[in-house]
Amino acid sequence: MYNEIDLDKIDISKEPPTDEPARQYYFMAKCREWVREFEKKNGRRPCFFTQTFGCQMNARDSEKLTGILEQIGYVQAESEEADFVIYNTCTVRENANNKVWGRLGYLNTYKKAHPHMKIALCGCMMQEPEVIDKLRRSYPFVDLVFGTHNIYKFAELLTRTFEQPGMLIDVWKGTDKIVEKLPIERKYNFKSGVNVMFGCNNFCSYCIVPYVRGRERSRRPEDILEEIEKLARDGVVEVMLLGQNVNSYGRNLQEPVSFAQLLRQIEKIEGIERIRFMTSHPKDLSDELIEVMADSRKICNHLHLPLQSGSSRILKEMNRQYDKEQYLALIAKIRKAVPDIALTTDIIVGFPGETEEDFGETMDVVRQVGYDSAFTFIYSKRSGTPAAAMERQIPEDVVKERFGRLLKEVQKCAAERARALTGRVEKVLVEEVNEQDEALVTGRMGNNFIVHFPGTEALIGRIVNVKLKECKGFYFYGELTD
Ligand code: 5AD
Ligand code: SF4
Repeated sequence: MYNEIDLDKIDISKEPPTDEPARQYYFMAKCREWVREFEKKNGRRPCFFTQTFGCQMNARDSEKLTGILEQIGYVQAESEEADFVIYNTCTVRENANNKVWGRLGYLNTYKKAHPHMKIALCGCMMQEPEVIDKLRRSYPFVDLVFGTHNIYKFAELLTRTFEQPGMLIDVWKGTDKIVEKLPIERKYNFKSGVNVMFGCNNFCSYCIVPYVRGRERSRRPEDILEEIEKLARDGVVEVMLLGQNVNSYGRNLQEPVSFAQLLRQIEKIEGIERIRFMTSHPKDLSDELIEVMADSRKICNHLHLPLQSGSSRILKEMNRQYDKEQYLALIAKIRKAVPDIALTTDIIVGFPGETEEDFGETMDVVRQVGYDSAFTFIYSKRSGTPAAAMERQIPEDVVKERFGRLLKEVQKCAAERARALTGRVEKVLVEEVNEQDEALVTGRMGNNFIVHFPGTEALIGRIVNVKLKECKGFYFYGELTD
């Protein structure tokens, strides 16, 4: 396992190994030499700062980057005023890109005063050729650029960045490789994301993910189980299984396994108390999965099931492969099997050609389902996707007005669902001391609602019973009970 490897025992005078992950450990050992030199010269270890944009997949990737940087001797900094700054970018909507461009401007100013600083960019946005062109033209101060497919090569790329000046760009179009057993530094001791698959084959017409994350690749079940067993030994009680479409997990493995079968195996791991997963695609959600959820003691009472639109016509244009009726029927089936399940969703407003009537269908589904929470997005045109070339893009003022109405409805439903829980005693995993009030701790219920209650740091990582006393719309105030 990775933490049993002693970097000092690696002979870096030899040629690097060709096999992974041994090759990356060799480069980590090399980087560590560089870090030692830095320390000798400056009387301190170099520090790094990572900024993650976007989804939980990216957050998990950043833990991998952090793991490697810490392994080679870097220490974490609190801000971008650091020796090494890495932005792990997202490109799912245009505003994610804009945030990165804005912050690069600030980094440039800081780097002018601290020329030894290194700046790296990685993640989904780097998979776009236009972004790379723009970086080459206008952001020459960036030292390292890589994409989503070669993140496992970070140590090797870092070595090259130390050895040669100028911007190093290494972005791959795709890969079928999954490299296991690299270092990971987890943000929380008691919960962890676990990748079960990478990429997406669905090509929803608005979405850039299949282009920047590549085709679906599932990890082998034995690698996933081994990772979770190790996490459990380290004290992790909650795992979040991550994939763009976990419901199609395992189909392309040499020995196919279903996601439901994988869940059954994970359920058996001692020490793991809670299992979450995201994201599910409605078209692939099987009866077997519903059955496993209903039977399970550990799978949380929560399902995130992106709707995107309630209009069957728009769903067809989106290439979602289900219609309004099928979606509602699926919800009914799930509710029947798991009566008090919390349902959350993603909705896009203003997809090309969306009429008031189409939007009305979305509002109707929201009312019928009564989501516990929903992420609502304004459609963002992503170049290269089929939807970007569609006629009848919707004017901004119309979209904003619809978005406002949707948000209100979603908030109303969520508040109603939350209010109904008031007075109940729920199992809560305590996550942190409350940021605003040190006398409180904040925890999460199985259904993903948040509760604040009096308690101390000692409770962090424990699952406790909490009585929900007061509903504040999307969260609760409560008190510890037996
Ligand atoms: N515009 C707006 N929202 C988008 N999403 C994906 N692509 C776009 C886009 N082009 C949303 C979907 C998806 C979530 C992760 O992001 O709702 O489920
Ligand atoms: Fe994008 Fe659709 Fe794949 Fe989700 S399922 S990542 S929305 S293409």
